Amino acid sequence: MEIVETIADLRARLHADRAAGRTVGFVPTMGYLHAGHVSLIDAAVAADDRTVVSIFVNPLQFAPGEDLADYPRDLAADTAACAAAGVDYVFVPDLAEMYPRPVETVVTVPTVAAPLEGVHRPSHFAGVATVVAKLFAIVGPCRAYFGAKDWQQVAVVRRLVADLSFPVEVVACPIVRESDGLALSSRNVYLTEEERRQAPALRRALDAGLALANAGETDAAAVEAAMADALAAAPAGTIDYVAAVQADSLLVDGPLHDDIRLLVAVRFSKARLIDNDGARIPRRGPDDRGALSSAP
Ligand code: PAJ
Repeated sequence: MEIVETIADLRARLHADRAAGRTVGFVPTMGYLHAGHVSLIDAAVAADDRTVVSIFVNPLQFAPGEDLADYPRDLAADTAACAAAGVDYVFVPDLAEMYPRPVETVVTVPTVAAPLEGVHRPSHFAGVATVVAKLFAIVGPCRAYFGAKDWQQVAVVRRLVADLSFPVEVVACPIVRESDGLALSSRNVYLTEEERRQAPALRRALDAGLALANAGETDAAAVEAAMADALAAAPAGTIDYVAAVQADSLLVDGPLHDDIRLLVAVRFSKARLIDNDGARIPRRGPDDRGALSSAP
């Protein structure tokens, strides 16, 4: 495994790999790797000939007052985890390598970025889209692995890849959870003991919403109310949002239908946690009757 610090060095290595006919898998991260990150790395190692993991805490995606300065870092543990998982290149550019001058060119995906996270973190996805576009331009043609944990981020990245024709195939990987249901996150270390005890309420809220949706509830407000009720089990947290939306648009366009996504964001004293899960609303009406009448 090579630790690569410059854009030119990474480009040269990947150019040689592709010239030799090797495929490239790319896992962008901000480090402090946990089993969720490692699941993306495992998927890349399994599918691609060469795997690149980038570790860069991107200041553009943190608003003033967010946790940029405190964001947890442990490069030694991260490189050990990458080596153990079979990574070929760990790309660890410093700030001067990525942003030698103040950033002038910003990539925005305003419609996808607007709801949910966008309401609470209005500049966040422009920072994500800008660094991801830059990383894609550095890495070149690849499969890029993202976690469904950040569902809206995946939607933003898919749209940016489509609109700007990046030679990148985006792969979304399932959310990895603790045994009590809490989604793994680098920010879980910020939780107090009591908050950590309450945090699985996010998973319970998704379960409550899923139960209603799977039973055929199509009123987004009713599903959201059930989710909010379940979050009463986490009184230390403040709800930023509970949402039941169409999975692709992240919006509600009437009664819920087909593939939907349930999403929650809760603020604790120092950590802001997000989680989500999907469901498919059972088809009703003429389709059901058709199915019944053709049943034996
Ligand atoms: P970071 O928060 O480090 O996450 C890196 C990747 O790991 C993201 O695609 C995220 O969705 C995924 N991930 C995090 N927790 C996960 C879990 N419990 N299960 C599965 N996947 C999980 O997301 C970012 O960094 C940044 O915004 C980045 C894309 C690197 C741009 O700076």
